[in-house]
Amino acid sequence: MKQFNVGVIGATGMVGQRFMLLLENHPWFKVTALAASARSAGKTYKDAVGDKWAFACPIPSKYCEMTVLDAEADMNEIANSVDFVFCAVNMDKAKIRALEEAYAKKEVPVVSNNSAHRFTPDVPMVIPEINADHIEVIASQKARLGTKRGFIAVKSNCSLQSYVPLLHPLKAFGVTQAAVCTYQAISGAGKTFQTMPEIVDNVIPYIGGEEEKSEKEPLKIWGSVENGEIVSASGPSITAQCLRVPVSDGHTAAVFVSFAKKPTKEEILSAWASFKGVPQELELPSAPKQFIRYFEEDNRPQAKLDRMEGNGMSVTAGRLREDTVFDYKFVGLSHNTLRGAAGGAVLLAELLAAKGYMD
Ligand SMILES: NC(=O)c1ccc[n+]([C@@H]2O[C@H](COP(=O)([O-])OP(=O)(O)OC[C@H]3O[C@@H](n4cnc5c(N)ncnc54)[C@H](OP(=O)(O)O)[C@@H]3O)[C@@H](O)[C@H]2O)c1
Repeated sequence: MKQFNVGVIGATGMVGQRFMLLLENHPWFKVTALAASARSAGKTYKDAVGDKWAFACPIPSKYCEMTVLDAEADMNEIANSVDFVFCAVNMDKAKIRALEEAYAKKEVPVVSNNSAHRFTPDVPMVIPEINADHIEVIASQKARLGTKRGFIAVKSNCSLQSYVPLLHPLKAFGVTQAAVCTYQAISGAGKTFQTMPEIVDNVIPYIGGEEEKSEKEPLKIWGSVENGEIVSASGPSITAQCLRVPVSDGHTAAVFVSFAKKPTKEEILSAWASFKGVPQELELPSAPKQFIRYFEEDNRPQAKLDRMEGNGMSVTAGRLREDTVFDYKFVGLSHNTLRGAAGGAVLLAELLAAKGYMD
């Protein structure tokens, strides 16, 4: 595979820092530009991040002295030095939409963690194991934007990565409805225990906008491509409650599900164990070999023990059993800044590169 020069927009943030770690030794992608807000522009990466560095390991030395650029004011310089950008910024949605479109119109593909474009009909929202085929709408997006190679592709919200990958292989049994309660880590809010002391010894029963995303985004992921746009599926209906819990990384979901044709427990376990997607078939560098791992132990999966399964890219499950109201219930877990954010975006970029969209 050819090497691609990559920019990270929002490199100083929680997700941006994850990108820097994931890309440090990536076999295809090399970081050649870092950008953030005007507050960080002109500083070295080390100084711009300062005490916001959220990981136990140090900042990779090759990035420490790189100068952070201004994502807006230095757009031309960035566009000229990269093949594509990752984008994870904390800005007003309208501004993010404009920023990402501006990069696309400068012929720079944008792989985004932001929610701003998730419901733009010709922008694919991709979990590569589930709906890799949705990237075909990029052709009509380019026609709308008037670009040759610039486009936007997004990943979905982190909360749903702990249950949609587990419901997906069960669709063959006609999933009719699901109820989920998510227990979400503080890194999902860009926070650490130092910057979110109010979470210690506490549960906060509200994460703005999260329940709507958790109910609506799965239907776009399960949607179909029609006339160059993605049309959301009409079901299954999903109801969600999302809670913030005192966990550093790893979103857990308690899931209840009903089927048109109720499978046996063995059929569910077999569907999970055998499920593979395009990333596994193409052996993409960040693809976990085993996408779904089921634990037989009653006390697993646990965020602290199991979030790094498959380098943080697998989804783990446990406690599958029959339910008194729904057909079955189980627990899911995924790493929110790896599979749920930067890792999922890197995997999407690998898929796009493998399919020729970054050439
Ligand atoms: N954390 C997660 O698990 C997660 C999961 C999925 C999606 N996301 C999404 O990813 C995005 C980033 O989240 P985060 O948790 O990394 O946020 P964060 O830690 O607050 O970082 C925000 C980043 O945005 C930059 N930024 C802010 N204003 C800017 C501007 N006007 N122009 C350019 N850059 C600007 C910041 O730069 P400065 O340092 O210069 O201020 C920083 O690099 C959000 O859209 C979030 O919803 C997060």
